[in-house]
Amino acid sequence: MLNILVKELMIKFHDYIEPFATIREIAIKRNIPIISPETVSFLSKIIGKYQPEKILEIGTAIGYSALIMAENLNKKFRIDTIDVSKPAVIEARQNIRKYNHSNSINVYFDKGINFLKMTKSKYNFIFIDAKKEEYPEYYRLSKLQLKSNGIIVLDNLLWQGKVRQKRAFADKRVEILRKFDRDFLNDNSGKTEIYEIGDGVGIYNKKI
Ligand SMILES: C[S@@+](CC[C@H](N)C(=O)[O-])C[C@H]1O[C@@H](n2cnc3c(N)ncnc32)[C@H](O)[C@@H]1O
Repeated sequence: MLNILVKELMIKFHDYIEPFATIREIAIKRNIPIISPETVSFLSKIIGKYQPEKILEIGTAIGYSALIMAENLNKKFRIDTIDVSKPAVIEARQNIRKYNHSNSINVYFDKGINFLKMTKSKYNFIFIDAKKEEYPEYYRLSKLQLKSNGIIVLDNLLWQGKVRQKRAFADKRVEILRKFDRDFLNDNSGKTEIYEIGDGVGIYNKKI
């Protein structure tokens, strides 16, 4: 299913129209990292096509990517999104209220790993975009919370192109993501792919 899905989604990204220009401008001005326009386009399409009912996001920032997902859902849905920064959580809640999604998007102030360990919820779709050093653990725990045929999307897997370059970098995230790159692509519990979209997007589709 994943190959067909992704092929369909690998359409050109020139059709990107910024849906939340004000939030993007604020993020740029204040150096808040949010998903790239290419990733917006990709995420919009995969969410629009798959229409997951229950979504978990690790890494809310100011609510931009949660709103992108919400805007592409046309049935009843719930998004739980987690961030460890209290000011980010407050601002995300304000943005989500402004765009009338407070009833369907819950913003939790918590550590991603902690939330994943404690939650009893199961999700159809999990978007991982938080602390890069913790990606292996987010991924392992996310798979336990994924419903059958569910999808996990991870952003920044190629980390500014550094992950697949041969040289060394004085950034321990590169080493962690290099190992994760190999382990993820060798994971036989589902289908995995990494695409050069934005900063590198990984997709996992659980075997039914
Ligand atoms: C790249 S930003 C998320 C951007 C957001 N997904 C978007 O595109 O709009 C990463 C976020 O992860 C949060 N974060 C960092 N460490 C975390 C942790 N251990 N648990 C949860 N969130 C964390 C940061 O506070 C930051 O807001």
